[in-house]
Amino acid sequence: MASHPRLRETLARAFDDGMAVGAGAARLLRGNHEIISACETHLAKWLGAEKTLLSSSGYQANYLLLSSLPQRGDVILFDANVHASMRDGIRASAAQHFKFVHNDLGDLQRLIRQHRGVQIFIVTESLFSMDGDFADVESLLHIAEENNAMLIIDEAHTTGIYGPTGKGCCENLPRDHLITVHTGGKALGAAGGFIAARTDIIDYLINTARPFIFATAPMPVLALALQTATHILDEETWRREKLLSICHSVGQQSPIWPVILGEDHAAVAAADGLQANGWDIRAIRPPTVPEGTARLRISLNISHSPELLTELQAALAKLTISNP
Ligand SMILES: Cc1ncc(COP(=O)(O)O)c(C=O)c1O
Repeated sequence: MASHPRLRETLARAFDDGMAVGAGAARLLRGNHEIISACETHLAKWLGAEKTLLSSSGYQANYLLLSSLPQRGDVILFDANVHASMRDGIRASAAQHFKFVHNDLGDLQRLIRQHRGVQIFIVTESLFSMDGDFADVESLLHIAEENNAMLIIDEAHTTGIYGPTGKGCCENLPRDHLITVHTGGKALGAAGGFIAARTDIIDYLINTARPFIFATAPMPVLALALQTATHILDEETWRREKLLSICHSVGQQSPIWPVILGEDHAAVAAADGLQANGWDIRAIRPPTVPEGTARLRISLNISHSPELLTELQAALAKLTISNP
């Protein structure tokens, strides 16, 4: 998508027609360009949410939401494997926070029982960025609803790919107790992030979130890129169908394919060896992943041909691997 001709032409035409490069100011001052508001309205409709809030990156979206919405006296319960941007937002929050065992709903419910009577925020990802596994979003939402908690789900790796029409794993879920965070930098092929939530929550963020209030608005062309990318993905449904069939063909549950090698040096040596043979595969080490789980992280996309994937499997078979 990052090099999709329609995306490039739309952006080039916008500049030719005089679109400003920079927003020029924060949103609450002079930076609130019409295209940014139009994009937010469009993205809300696209996701089936009441409202969305655009930001310059997915990192910023997670950070601004988590550092601002939960209050002192509230409790944040977060999956042990959530992304650094969520962790950093949680750390900056005045709320108390506790980690639950990765994807363990029993452990989450144990923590909920310990914090009865306070406002709880449950924080997780729908598709985990380093392991390529999924959270059970329906059950999590059920737990949130039962406990009058808010569920915050990072859909960075599912937006544009998963769900009945590619809107993410939370597509069609009721949104009273649900907030989703999306990035434009992955399947949408651009950049930026957006938060989708109830109107009262987005309005609260607009009025209180310091990373929103005190930052220059995103480039207007980013709003145009996201709008255009969603139109393309709606029309070119073959993209996600092809991607999912590629994942299936190599026995992976998602486009994120971790090859866990254990020690850091093993992952680095494997990546070096693969790179020397022309593979663009990187090693991921702690602290990005837990100690002892250094890995190669392969990211599947629709340009990967069956022949290439067969060669890749042969190259990986030569490594000593414990691939989950
Ligand atoms: C799960 C997850 N959330 C958030 C982000 C941050 O998004 P962005 O790159 O748009 O800042 C990333 C990676 O980039 C990610 O993997």
